[in-house]
Amino acid sequence: MLEINSIIAFLAKYLMRRITFHRVIAAGLLLIAGLSCHAPRKDQHKDMTDHKWWKEAVVYQIYPRSFMDSNGDGIGDLKGIISKLDYIKSLGVNVVWLNPIYSSPNDDNGYDVSDYRNVMKDFGNMADFNAMLKGMHERGIKLVMDLVVNHSSDEHEWFKQSRSSRTNPYRDYYHWWNADRGKPAPRYSLFDVNHDAWMYDSTTNAYYLHYFSRKQPDLNWENPKLRQEIFDMMKFWADKGIDGFRLDAFQFAAKDTTFPVFPQGYEKEFTKYYAMQPGLHEYLKEMNNQVLSKYDVMSVAEGAGNSFQDAHDLVDANRDELNMAYAFEGVDIAKPEGYSVLHFKEVFSKWDSVFAKKGWLSIFLANHDQARLVSRFGNDDPKFREVSSKMLTTFIMTMRGTPYYYNGDELGMTNAGFKDINDYRDKATLNEYQHQMNIGGNMAEFMRQTACSCRDNGRTPFQWNSNANAGFTTGAPWIKVNSNYTTINEAVQDKEPNSPLNYFRKIVKLRKENAVLVYGKYTLLDKSNPDVYAYTRELDGKKFLILLNFRSDAKAANIGLDLSKAKILIDNYTEPSTDGKLKPYEAVVYQLQ
Ligand code: NOJ
Repeated sequence: MLEINSIIAFLAKYLMRRITFHRVIAAGLLLIAGLSCHAPRKDQHKDMTDHKWWKEAVVYQIYPRSFMDSNGDGIGDLKGIISKLDYIKSLGVNVVWLNPIYSSPNDDNGYDVSDYRNVMKDFGNMADFNAMLKGMHERGIKLVMDLVVNHSSDEHEWFKQSRSSRTNPYRDYYHWWNADRGKPAPRYSLFDVNHDAWMYDSTTNAYYLHYFSRKQPDLNWENPKLRQEIFDMMKFWADKGIDGFRLDAFQFAAKDTTFPVFPQGYEKEFTKYYAMQPGLHEYLKEMNNQVLSKYDVMSVAEGAGNSFQDAHDLVDANRDELNMAYAFEGVDIAKPEGYSVLHFKEVFSKWDSVFAKKGWLSIFLANHDQARLVSRFGNDDPKFREVSSKMLTTFIMTMRGTPYYYNGDELGMTNAGFKDINDYRDKATLNEYQHQMNIGGNMAEFMRQTACSCRDNGRTPFQWNSNANAGFTTGAPWIKVNSNYTTINEAVQDKEPNSPLNYFRKIVKLRKENAVLVYGKYTLLDKSNPDVYAYTRELDGKKFLILLNFRSDAKAANIGLDLSKAKILIDNYTEPSTDGKLKPYEAVVYQLQ
């Protein structure tokens, strides 16, 4: 059994920050991609400068439950998204990644799918989906859908059949261990109240496997019939014209179905045992062959295995699997007690260098499994919230790789930091709370960590304006609105030329107009500076310098470059500093050549 501190630390990572597995393992961030694009501009940069739309994309992630409610039931929906398409377009982003919108009993907010070919009632219906997709395409925005196929809901018809008898044709769609054989070897569950991934089911006197909650049984990818069902379902969506898939938790899809005993303490590094098991690459190749290669779609895997080699193998275009994966070493750097800027620089530089010649990265610091960007990586004190948020946006938009940007971060939305467990909605957090109660854990410490790190912090409703419920709903919101919505909201920021929102629009434009920010070579400067992150990007004779002050006081960068003739392309202050020092959280992008 894990120690309480480890469990809290884990939660404060997983749920809260995203899914831990990947983080341990993957340590990092990004991905890799396409060697397949074989139209090199220069031989020595074959893969890196090989142009692809998904490399040049700026991905905006929408959490549909919290984005915009059109019918007053307190839950965001597809019609709500449709009503905001012009807003999304105004950001300049050109790809939307939508969290799952399939039918689901919502044990894990849609990551428990009960019908892969239908739309969750809370979100609307297929006609709404079609209208949303059309509206996006009319505006030049592509749509990437979440594909949740490591597990389904226990309310999926396949599982209902599967659990009904040992001889049902769907029995092998899931992993069962007949209790006549005794208890199976332990498996760790991230979301289970007892952390036990085996759930006993009396109907057939057997256990089923669930790496996540009891209501998320793991699918059996060894079964060719199951694989065919998934590929056909993917074609169903691709034929509708969607532009990509984000493969949820897919690195765990392959299992050693003999279920051997793992060494004592394996749960502390369970990804090592769960991720990238034999069979995974074959499944991906089959998926690529049957679906991905037949459409102009991008594919991105959540999690990148246990090593750089794993990451490369997932997305090496010569292997015909995926385009990109994202790992978690970068996003996991921030801790409630802070983080080291040197460490931050080291991690992002390391991942860039590994893929400098071949492959591709994704760049992100936040998503629906994390607390808010500015609260984790910046400074949400009102004095520094706007500048630090813009500084982090500058980082994401000026690194090599495809940026993934989470809705609401363009406003610098902050953690809600709920104090009362009754305000939380995340099932994983609620189950862990129960677990801690059961084992007599340190509840004060648990609540402290939860307030900082819980992923519900990133899921409070989008703050549109200062009307009731931030203009998100006319009903009772499914989760409390952050009380700061009267000052932090889209309507206010849209009117302010220097707001985080308008800064985001400007820097997205800058990235889209300058291929150097997408494909350019990255070089870290002033490596040992503990406060300032400085780097250059270079391509075809163009050279940009990026300076980011990660501190709340003025700091200097020692870059040894003469900036007197450099042109400032963007600065997060209206008056850039002139004394050679960067102002608190100042971010500047210069053009040197
Ligand atoms: C990863 C998703 O990002 C997370 O939100 C979800 O809870 C798990 N996968 C399980 O599907």
